[in-house]
Amino acid sequence: MFAVFVRSALRPGMVRPCRLVRPATQIPERSLVHQEGLPKLPVPPLKQTCERYLAALGPIVSEEELEHTRQLVNEFLKGGVGERLQKGLERRARKTDNWLSEWWMQSAYLDCRMPVAVYTSPGVVLPRMHFQDRQGQMRFAAKLIAGVLDFKRMIDTETLPVEYLSRQPLCMDQYYQILSSCRIPGPKRDTVMNHAIGITTPTHITVVHNFQFFVLDVYNSDGTPLTVDQLYMQLEKIWNSSLQTNKEPVGILTSQHRNTWGKAYNNLIKDKTNKESVRAIQKSIFTVCLDAPMPRVSDEMYQSRVAAQMLHGGGARWNSGNRWFDKTLQFIVGEDGTCGLMYEHAPAEGPPIVFLIDYVVNYMRKTEMVRSPMVPLVMPQKLRFNITPEIKRDIDRAKQNMNIMVHDLDVKVLMFSHFGKLVPKQHKLSPDAFVQMAFQLAYFRMYDICCSTYESASLRMFKYGRTDGIRVTTEESSKFVMAMQDPAKKNTERMELLREAVEKHKQNTYDAIHGQGIDRHLLGLKMVGIEDLTSMPEIFMDTSFAVAQHFNLSTSQVGSKTDCVMCFGPMVPDGYGVCYNPMDEHINIAITAFNSCEETHAAKFAQAVEDALLDLRALLEDTATAKQ
Ligand code: COA
Repeated sequence: MFAVFVRSALRPGMVRPCRLVRPATQIPERSLVHQEGLPKLPVPPLKQTCERYLAALGPIVSEEELEHTRQLVNEFLKGGVGERLQKGLERRARKTDNWLSEWWMQSAYLDCRMPVAVYTSPGVVLPRMHFQDRQGQMRFAAKLIAGVLDFKRMIDTETLPVEYLSRQPLCMDQYYQILSSCRIPGPKRDTVMNHAIGITTPTHITVVHNFQFFVLDVYNSDGTPLTVDQLYMQLEKIWNSSLQTNKEPVGILTSQHRNTWGKAYNNLIKDKTNKESVRAIQKSIFTVCLDAPMPRVSDEMYQSRVAAQMLHGGGARWNSGNRWFDKTLQFIVGEDGTCGLMYEHAPAEGPPIVFLIDYVVNYMRKTEMVRSPMVPLVMPQKLRFNITPEIKRDIDRAKQNMNIMVHDLDVKVLMFSHFGKLVPKQHKLSPDAFVQMAFQLAYFRMYDICCSTYESASLRMFKYGRTDGIRVTTEESSKFVMAMQDPAKKNTERMELLREAVEKHKQNTYDAIHGQGIDRHLLGLKMVGIEDLTSMPEIFMDTSFAVAQHFNLSTSQVGSKTDCVMCFGPMVPDGYGVCYNPMDEHINIAITAFNSCEETHAAKFAQAVEDALLDLRALLEDTATAKQ
């Protein structure tokens, strides 16, 4: 069955410049049934969350800390504070479409003052392309643009197939937030502008080459998209009129700390020309970055180098100025065959982005450039910027800070080729839980402790759902990793513990995706406390709470059909960011850390993960043969 979904109303927290929404009578009935029929995110029972919270603390805090937290949780439950906050949250849940999504978008993204580059915006590494020159680069970019426009057609005509998770239909709202949108810096909090909804929706993309931005109209006057051939011609014009390499990289301003960028932004748009140029970028459907070649590296290092390029552009000398980091979607095509994308995280999660990639990659495979009779097209408009001495100073500062970020980011992409998700499946284990247990084992082997570990879980079964966290470190996982390191343990015992740990992880995943996770509920209770202006309950001021929120391992599975891998920075200064794509026969894993932390090392962790995965497979095989 093929269901379609409807362009939803503006999601909470987003700013719509065009106020007109299509009249309800025009919305296809079956779409309404899908989107409107989605359940509301529930508020989990208070006692359940408190009990699960204490259980999650077990393997990551000391017995003394845990005892103290038990008392605080008891007071919270029995003293009436918890009940009051819970009632406040339930009231909010009744009044809103989703009690969480606006708070989440604000607290996780728009209030966050760290730069979006490296800290919140993920990158995606696509397989290496075989071109090595500008013709190849432009041909690839032209096909890619045509593919994204074809995908956009499904969004515009509301014919995008509804996605499912565990046989439940998912909220499709995020697809309406990723095109024609852009983050805008604010002095204390950012906003996201969405230009996709309204009577006059944008018909142009922005292309950046040698730090120079161009408006490229991608539709003919009759509303048909430009053909690949036409797009190629237009890209060629852009290439030829941006050959100078001495231009100020205005885009690098967007990589700054958000307060710094907020100030620089106000200064930049004081000038009318600059303001118009910035608006054109913000409104555009998406951005294509035609990158200069990067320094060559060995084949082994190639994916890691590309991941870094997707996350930050390589530094002021390379392609960091060839970006508008606030733009929701930026496709990156290098002259040296590098390709991928980066996206600003506030409007959407990874899965819709990779679904789009899968579609575009498939489209590009089927599409050839067809020479069509040429209707002369207007020259793409170059966006001008007047650079005052103050703006120049801001750019210079942004360049310096970017270079510091580049040096600080440690990236290792592990293309684990020994086996993929078919192996755990054959042994009747959840592949996701299996890979997570390998991360747990790798971390334990390196540090001799278990750490607070986050895995993102989709909440899209609910209207406007985003994510909750799965707490991966459990009593069961810690018993398993300890058994793996204990020479006295037999493999049969280890295998039994692995099964228990995997089952626990599956149960926690089930709870999280069904709206019964711990973390967002605790966030909700805390937010009610803040809004009530009452004193903050002690459970949120406790050391255990800080330890629980300090995710040394921040992980996420973003699976795709395309052989690609998503990557993102660590959540904490002494942690790892780990994003993985388990394919049937291999697993792509991108690991990041900060060089400024002496304890972390992306390549060493990657090696430990590889060893752990191999040891897990050996354990499966050994215990399977022992049974025979
Ligand atoms: N035996 C055999 N097969 C099993 C199994 C078992 N015991 N348990 C699971 N499987 C199968 C599943 O049926 C599934 O099959 P498929 O490949 O045919 O679909 C496959 O193994 C994968 O299942 P599993 O590894 O358990 O993971 P999942 O697909 O259920 O994904 C999450 C788990 C948490 C990743 C997913 O629920 C989710 O939330 N994804 C979104 C995360 C997100 O938003 N990330 C981005 C943040 S930017």
